[in-house]
Amino acid sequence: MEILKEYSLKAHNTFGIDAKARAYVAVSSVEELREVLEANRHQQILVLGGGSNMLLTRDIEALVVHMDIKGKEIVREDEDTVWVRAMAGENWHDFVLWTLEHDFGGLENLSLIPGNTGTAPIQNIGAYGVELKDTFVGCEALDRNTLELVPFSKEECRFGYRDSVFKSVKKDAYIITAVTFELTKKNHRIATGYGAIESELRSRGIHDPGIKDVSQAVIAIRNRKLPDPKVLGNSGSFFKNPVLDKKEFQTFIENHGEAPHYKVDNGSFKVPAGWLIEQCGFKGKRFGDAGVHEKQALVLVNHGNASGQDILALAQKVMAAVERKFNIAISPEVNLIGQFPTGKVWNP
Ligand code: EPU
Repeated sequence: MEILKEYSLKAHNTFGIDAKARAYVAVSSVEELREVLEANRHQQILVLGGGSNMLLTRDIEALVVHMDIKGKEIVREDEDTVWVRAMAGENWHDFVLWTLEHDFGGLENLSLIPGNTGTAPIQNIGAYGVELKDTFVGCEALDRNTLELVPFSKEECRFGYRDSVFKSVKKDAYIITAVTFELTKKNHRIATGYGAIESELRSRGIHDPGIKDVSQAVIAIRNRKLPDPKVLGNSGSFFKNPVLDKKEFQTFIENHGEAPHYKVDNGSFKVPAGWLIEQCGFKGKRFGDAGVHEKQALVLVNHGNASGQDILALAQKVMAAVERKFNIAISPEVNLIGQFPTGKVWNP
């Protein structure tokens, strides 16, 4: 393990922000992770996974520990289902493709989501009507204080919309090292109800889709709507879709009857932030190298050399415009590293 000084993180964040880490180290086993944490107990540490859900707003005055622990295995199996355990450093989409090659069902709707397997539970990744929690059975995480490995059940993770215990009450207390999923070996639960999946399959002449067909449809839809981070830096959805309570929603929909909306559990409604942002005229707009994606206004993009501060300034502009026009506060989905949305410096 080599600790690198003044190391550029440009290749390690999908926004492609050229921020430097004071020090950087990649770990490829739980033992190495423990060793690094033990040896740097009094240092500030930033744990880095796939770098796909963060905005580096400045140089990082911390030791950046890159989780590069690889491996996947079948840990339990019966006639109908299989439990697969993937280590944190596995690339999410490669892992999904591996499950599909083995004809294991359950993750196909989550194809092509950027990032690593170990960070996927933190925000309970979701797309096209499926969330990670639907197949998740448990994970292991290293307690950053005691350096012990702790098992977490699904209940203990308290998953919500883009949320879990690792993002709320236990934020920064644990580092997820491995995740286990229960997948189907037969009678796959094909979920094509969301959005464009059905029409995509129809246009391909597929009427009785298998899990690989669903995956390919999702990949095609995502490729059409979402920018490829290798070509155009971005972090997927920059904002969360706001959830309005019954009363707020009533006021909103009286004035904006044409707005798309989805009912959520307790009588509340989710309104797509992408729609709100588009209505404010931001879709496809560019301010220097920071921009709003031309096909999905929920995604902010780096056209080349935008700094974290440039993207942050654009995000703030967008949030203020939505608040002004709709009286709705939207908030970032990505982690703002180096800064809280309020402007408070990140320095725990
Ligand atoms: N819409 C607009 N303008 C836009 C974008 C969207 O009017 O610029 C409208 C669409 O027409 C549609 C509605 O908003 O009626 C919803 O759009 P879409 O189906 O694209 O989904 P989303 O709510 O914008 C969420 C996730 C995405 C995920 C898609 C598909 C969040 C924050 N985002 O986006 O996740 O891929 O659903 O399931 O929940 C990600 O997290 O990085 C991500 C891309």
